[in-house]
Amino acid sequence: MPSIDGCREECGGILSPMEQLPIGIFDSGLGGLTVASEVMTTLPQESIVYFGDTARCPYGPRNLEEVRRFVIEIGTWLEARPVKLMVIACNTATAAGLALAQQAFDVPVIGVVLPGARAAVRSTVNQKVGVIATAGTVESGAYSRAVRTLDAGVTVFSTPTPKFVDVVEAGLHKGPGALEDWLAESSDVFVRPSFHELARDYLAPLKRSGVDTLVLGCTHFPLLSAAIQQVMGPRVKLISSAAETAYEVAEALRRREHLAPSDHEPEHGFFTTGDPLEFARLGSRVLRRRIESAEYVSLESLMKSPSAELLTLVDGRGDASE
Ligand code: DGL
Repeated sequence: MPSIDGCREECGGILSPMEQLPIGIFDSGLGGLTVASEVMTTLPQESIVYFGDTARCPYGPRNLEEVRRFVIEIGTWLEARPVKLMVIACNTATAAGLALAQQAFDVPVIGVVLPGARAAVRSTVNQKVGVIATAGTVESGAYSRAVRTLDAGVTVFSTPTPKFVDVVEAGLHKGPGALEDWLAESSDVFVRPSFHELARDYLAPLKRSGVDTLVLGCTHFPLLSAAIQQVMGPRVKLISSAAETAYEVAEALRRREHLAPSDHEPEHGFFTTGDPLEFARLGSRVLRRRIESAEYVSLESLMKSPSAELLTLVDGRGDASE
């Protein structure tokens, strides 16, 4: 199993102290940049290595075992950079593989489901929480389990909204500027006829169940929050796990005394299995900061990176993580 110490030996003893290592963040594509953005805001001195597995996006419709394998591949790649902590900035990958990643890797691994569940439990007054997510996340039952663990008195109503991922992807490819602005501005031509109808259909059962809190259980969805809020009405509080996840990252690093010093100049790196030019262009809109360039990582090299020992952990593992 690769480790920070292993890398330290391989690199001939030259390695920055742990505090200066980057935080690794990954997602099936661009959605996890909503989490990276919060981490950059909460911890401006920290360097980030972001990995978007765009070539295999979406993860949502895939079976959990396949997604677990992706988690091990990307986690192995990140650990070899090395990084001091990993964030699985994808709900589907968190639901499928967080527990496995925590077992497989030597650095702390943080997912997005528990932080989102925690924020929802804190927010609900009537003890009714809705969750919208990919089919994979909903079917895993990860949010229901996480909420039950935190407060068994809260009832969770979950609905898969897989087409929301397509709306975000389509929106990113169509208009210029920040996606939320574009959705708001173009609501007459694009959002109203297609998205609002779709959102009303998807969200009607949740509205009927009377939830006062709705978890955006997919890292793509914060980009649609204005339109989702409009459909759900002003009384329903929308929860994105991004801010809570960033807080958890800060706490985990603080506890280990691995926070970068406040005068540290961060350097961010962006990697994708898809087209790096497109990743930098579209990613800049999600991140709301300019991504100068992204680097291509081939699926072939990624699939070769985990050891046979790690891959045996993936096989036959039945249940979801959180
Ligand atoms: N960003 C992923 C998540 O949070 C959803 C997109 C996908 O299906 O890959 O679940």
